[in-house]
Amino acid sequence: MTHPLAAPRPRLSRRAATLSGSSLTELFVLARARGAIDLAVGTPGYPEPTAELIGEATGAMEAGHNQYELPAGDALLRQYIADTLNAPTDSDTELTVTAGATEALCVALLATVDPGDEVIVLTPGYEQFSAAVGLAGAVPRFVPLHAPDWRYDPAELAAAFGPRTRAIILNTPGNPTGRVLTHEELTEIAELCARWDVTVISDEVYSTFVFDGRRHISAADVPGLAERSVVVGSLSKSHAVSGWRLGFLRADAERTQALRRVHELTTNGTAAPLQVAAGRAAMASDLAEAAREMEARRDLAHNVFARTGMKFSPAEGGCFLFADISPLTGGERDCTGFVRDLLDRAGVLLVPGASFFSDPARGEQYVRIAFNRRAETLHEAEQRIAAAS
Ligand SMILES: Cc1ncc(COP(=O)(O)O)c(C=O)c1O
Repeated sequence: MTHPLAAPRPRLSRRAATLSGSSLTELFVLARARGAIDLAVGTPGYPEPTAELIGEATGAMEAGHNQYELPAGDALLRQYIADTLNAPTDSDTELTVTAGATEALCVALLATVDPGDEVIVLTPGYEQFSAAVGLAGAVPRFVPLHAPDWRYDPAELAAAFGPRTRAIILNTPGNPTGRVLTHEELTEIAELCARWDVTVISDEVYSTFVFDGRRHISAADVPGLAERSVVVGSLSKSHAVSGWRLGFLRADAERTQALRRVHELTTNGTAAPLQVAAGRAAMASDLAEAAREMEARRDLAHNVFARTGMKFSPAEGGCFLFADISPLTGGERDCTGFVRDLLDRAGVLLVPGASFFSDPARGEQYVRIAFNRRAETLHEAEQRIAAAS
C-alpha cells in the first residue's frame, strides 16, 4: 500500500517533462531478440580499437591511474587532440576533455544560453540537439535542410536569426544526412553570427570521415567564425571507443574557463585511466587509413541499398546514408512500417527517418543506414535483403 504522505505522482521539472526519450527503444529490443543485423545505431562495428589502446587501458589501471583526473582532462590526451585539429589550439587553455560529445554539447549549451533564448537547429539532424536545447531551458528554432542534397536555403537561414538568437548548432559531417559544410556556407554563417552576435556550437564528431577528396573544414578554421565557436569532438567514432566516453570541447581561452566551470559540475571529468590510455596510444590509430576504409564501406552500403531501389545522394562524410524509400513504398507506407517490415522479412534493422525531423511528417519517406560496420556485416545484410525480396 502506498504511504499516505507519498505524492500521487513524482513532481518533475518542466525540463525533464519535455524529454520524450528514444522512440526507437522498442525496435531495438525486437531486433536484438530476433538476432537482426543492426544497421541502425551509430555504435562502431568498424573500425576497431587498436591493440595499443586496449593494452594502455589495462596498463593505466594497473599503474594506479584510478583516481580523479584534472577536470580539464589528461594533459597528453589534450595535446594529442590539439595535434589532430587543423586550427592552432593551445591544449592547456583551449581544450577540455568531456564524457563524450554528449556531455560536451550539454556543457556548451549550458555555458552559452539562458532560459528563453533561441538556438537555431537544422532539421533533419541528430535528435540530441533539440532535446539538449530544451534541457538548457532554451527554445530550438528549426531551419529546414532540403533534399536531395540537404542544403539550407540562405534566405530561410537568415530569417531565423533575430535578437533572441543566442546560438546555432552545426554538424559537419552531418548525422543523418552525410553533408559536409563548405567554406562558402561556413563563411555565410559567420556573417549572420557576427550580425546577431551568435555563438556557433559545431558538432564535428565525424570529422575523421570525409570522402571523395573533400577536406573537413572546422568552424575553428574559418576566420570570423573561429572566434565565436565552440567545437565539439569525440574519439567515440574516430577511434571506435564509444564506450570509453571520450569527447572534447575546443574554444578560446575565455570561453574555455566558463566551459570548464560547467563541466566541473556536470561530470568533473571522464574515466581517468581511459584518458591516460588514449593520451598514450591514440596516435597509434591511423586516421587517414580509417577514412579510406570508411569510404569503401560507404561505397559498399551505397551499392547494396541502391540495388534495393532506395535513392540517396552519396554521403560526403560521416557514417550514414540517408535514403529515400518512396520508390519502394510509392509514398504509401510510413517509414516505421517500412523498417518493421524489413526487420520481419529480412532481419535487418534501419532507423525510421521521421525521428530526425522537427516535423516527423517530413521524414516519412526516409530511413537512416549506418555503414560503420565490418564488410562481412554489410554483405550479410545484402544477402538477407535479397533472400527476402
Ligand atoms: C552528431 C553526433 N553528435 C554526438 C554524438 C555522441 O557522441 P559521443 O559518443 O561522443 O557522446 C553522436 C553519436 O552518435 C552523433 O551522431
